[in-house]
Amino acid sequence: MSSKRDFLTIWDLTAGEIECLLKRAIELKSGSDKNNCPLIGKSIGIFFEKPSTRTRVSFEAGIYQLGGQSIYLNPRELQLGRGETIADTARVLSRYLSGMVLRTYSHASAEEFASHATVPVINGLSDLHHPCQALADLMTILEKKGRISGIRLAYIGDGNNVANSLIEAAARTGISLTVACPEGYEPDPDIIERARNAMAKDSKGELIILRNPKEAAGRADVIYTDVWVSMGQEDKAEKKKTKLRDYQINGQLLQCAKNDAIVLHCLPAHRGEEITDEVMDGPNSAVFDQAENRLHTEKALLEFLIR
Ligand code: CP
Ligand code: NVA
Repeated sequence: MSSKRDFLTIWDLTAGEIECLLKRAIELKSGSDKNNCPLIGKSIGIFFEKPSTRTRVSFEAGIYQLGGQSIYLNPRELQLGRGETIADTARVLSRYLSGMVLRTYSHASAEEFASHATVPVINGLSDLHHPCQALADLMTILEKKGRISGIRLAYIGDGNNVANSLIEAAARTGISLTVACPEGYEPDPDIIERARNAMAKDSKGELIILRNPKEAAGRADVIYTDVWVSMGQEDKAEKKKTKLRDYQINGQLLQCAKNDAIVLHCLPAHRGEEITDEVMDGPNSAVFDQAENRLHTEKALLEFLIR
């Protein structure tokens, strides 16, 4: 029996493991452990169905820095594009590779891939989850605020994959999260329910879903947004942009948060839609540190999962 561990959602790591991983990511960022090559002689597949700047490049660079090799796999150039099954692809790739990072349209495909792979599978974004992003978000909050538990985080906008993983991260770490979104654009109901149950059981964290962005931003330590139209939703773009137009993070909304609130965005940003230039380039913005932290958290994750 394989004892491999996957990272498909935040629930795949315990609260203690997340804490250790963030500590290790901060250590790696400090540069104090330069001769660390746990991936020497190992190849990691980067299997992406959708475009990516941060996830692909941070993983490929991180794998190289840890002594390993990354192999970018475009599904259209694999036999998968000619009808080979996901299951057979996962079985075969597991014979060559020590791990895989996937970016799939459907979360079910990532689950199917992982269930047939005999090496660790990391979710680099699906329609439902973006757990690697949430790890970097937690690291950025810890760096900027000195703690995670008890932090008041306001997510303003579309209840998408990024929001879903933030909800799970809040439940695991004790964040008090308020999501402001229009009716019909809430995060996934099963994810909300599981997170609320975990929060109640562990007596940590809180999740409020409401409509008014100003109410959500009030007294927030961290304000977070993401694009209104995610990859794969282009056919719904006009409707979503109309529904979400009052959910922009601008100077006026930022005024409602604490003076020292930080602003996060997973990027890519659509400047002038969900966030203004003024906020994105302003003194409260931590978005580029957040993007950098993808590299450090992913290196810590690879070290932890790939044996
Ligand atoms: N935030 C994020 O995952 O960015 P990419 O789509 O560029 O990978
Ligand atoms: N919600 C966005 C995140 C991109 C990193 C998308 O899925 O396109």
